[in-house]
Amino acid sequence: MSTKHPKGNIIEADGVHRKFDLAGQPVHALKGVDFQLAYGEFLSLVGRSGSGKTTLLNIIAGLDRPSEGTTYFKDQDLNALSDEELAILRRNHVGIVFQSSALMPLLTAYENVELPLRIQGVARSERDRRVKECLDLVGMIHRATHRPYELSGGEQQRIAIARAIITSPDVILADEPTGELDSITARRIFSLFRDLVNEKDVSIVAATHDRGLIDIVDKVVELKDGEIA
Ligand SMILES: Nc1ncnc2c1ncn2[C@@H]1O[C@H](COP(=O)(O)OP(=O)(O)OP(=O)(O)O)[C@@H](O)[C@H]1O
Ligand SMILES: [Mg+2]
Repeated sequence: MSTKHPKGNIIEADGVHRKFDLAGQPVHALKGVDFQLAYGEFLSLVGRSGSGKTTLLNIIAGLDRPSEGTTYFKDQDLNALSDEELAILRRNHVGIVFQSSALMPLLTAYENVELPLRIQGVARSERDRRVKECLDLVGMIHRATHRPYELSGGEQQRIAIARAIITSPDVILADEPTGELDSITARRIFSLFRDLVNEKDVSIVAATHDRGLIDIVDKVVELKDGEIA
């Protein structure tokens, strides 16, 4: 999976429905969503609470499956993959950033960023080179030996981004990565994403409530009640 299509779509969802069953009550979270993320695009997914942003991100990340419809990652139909194959695809191609950074509390910033490379079995010297490069990229090299509780929310989020990009993913999926941050720090995080798209040839979807950030992105997609607005 190394082909590059400057104008094509790296992710596509066609007619995606997701129905949940909540104690016998049906919840129709996505109602026939068509979605495209182009190669090298920075896309912001906006919409009110409950509009389906997290549900859609989980489906395009291969963490959840649609009730109906098809999702493609680099032209690969995700419905055709087993859970194990989806996990491998995520590990090698997708970087995920959540609202709160979900760092390992007992590991240093360095060790948190290094972890995905250990899981991949990358050699120590190569790990060291890449961890330092990514910490430098997010402006956190001076905090390498600190543990998450010694870092501010914005600093923790930058470590989480370094961890998400350490494996050189094709796509970063971020679910309200700035939800717990002040507006200045939130702008810094979005600017960092912008730089990654421009310099690292990565594609990004970031769900956000914050319309003040949308001038930084290439495209805004709004979900309204489970449908594209
Ligand atoms: N596991 C689940 N079981 C039942 N209902 C669910 C489940 N996950 C999500 N939903 C419902 O699906 C709808 C969409 O939820 P989703 O989490 O995708 O919204 P969201 O846009 O991410 O909201 P927020 O901005 O608050 O994070 C909501 O009505 C929610 O209650
Ligand atoms: Mg959500």
